[in-house]
Amino acid sequence: MESVKKLKVTTLADNLTFHPSLLGQWGLSILLQIESIDGREHTILIDTGAEKEALLFNIDRLKVSLRRLEAIVLSHGHADHTAATVELARRSRRKVQVIAHPYVFKRRYVVTRKGKKVFGRVPKGEREKNIERAGAQLIFTKEPYQIIPGVITTGEIPRQTSFERIPGRRFICVGRQPQRDHILDDQAVIVNVRGQGAWVFSGCAHSGIINTLRRVRSIAPSLSIYAIVGGMHLVSRNESGIKPVVNALRSYAPKLVSPCHCTGFRATGMIWQAFQRQFVLNFSGRTIMSWKMTRENLV
Ligand SMILES: [Fe+2]
Ligand SMILES: [Fe+2]
Repeated sequence: MESVKKLKVTTLADNLTFHPSLLGQWGLSILLQIESIDGREHTILIDTGAEKEALLFNIDRLKVSLRRLEAIVLSHGHADHTAATVELARRSRRKVQVIAHPYVFKRRYVVTRKGKKVFGRVPKGEREKNIERAGAQLIFTKEPYQIIPGVITTGEIPRQTSFERIPGRRFICVGRQPQRDHILDDQAVIVNVRGQGAWVFSGCAHSGIINTLRRVRSIAPSLSIYAIVGGMHLVSRNESGIKPVVNALRSYAPKLVSPCHCTGFRATGMIWQAFQRQFVLNFSGRTIMSWKMTRENLV
């Protein structure tokens, strides 16, 4: 796999914020600013949050320019990751590619214990037609998709581990009949930083973060996993459910682990204990620069 020279990560939306002037929300949006090997600058966004106003507020407060935004990857079709795709695509002077699995915009719901259906799909005004009307180009694929050399999506992630099953009664309307929703649209983004290895960005990692890393390995077998950033969806797990995930994470020996969003406090604490030197707490306004990886810069 090709590589990039530099990567700057800015979390634009997350559940938490430690900046007094920024807003938190139950949602995720991560900006990648990349310098390629030939010296060109690239701007790529992963997800577009849950609360449009809060995300746009943070972008303005952080003085982030999206005029050169060239691609938005939708990690999956949940409402907390897809609320401002139209608005952010419009901020670019370019024709933005919106990369998504074919299931991202499908109707989906969860059946609660009381038998109530709770819908949680991409919000109104942010769906296929709206995105196209905003001048963006939708790219639907289940396969890995190279955005620029050195940056690739994982595409659909095979479910291999026994300890990362998706709980709950989730349904998706793909054909005529609703079917069990295994959130097959879940995908991650890989950035290969020269001299370091793979930076892996997950949205919610509904596939399981270990399945995600296995997928990265199968796409780029020679790359070591350098950094893991994003949601790991362990929020509803107890300690015994989190342990095998943390143990498996250890086997990848990442140099940076930065969980956020739906990882949950219990899992975040356990990950911190397992990776005290590699751990970076993530939140709205967090920046991580691939060329400044000393402890002082990260804590
Ligand atoms: Fe999700
Ligand atoms: Fe989420």
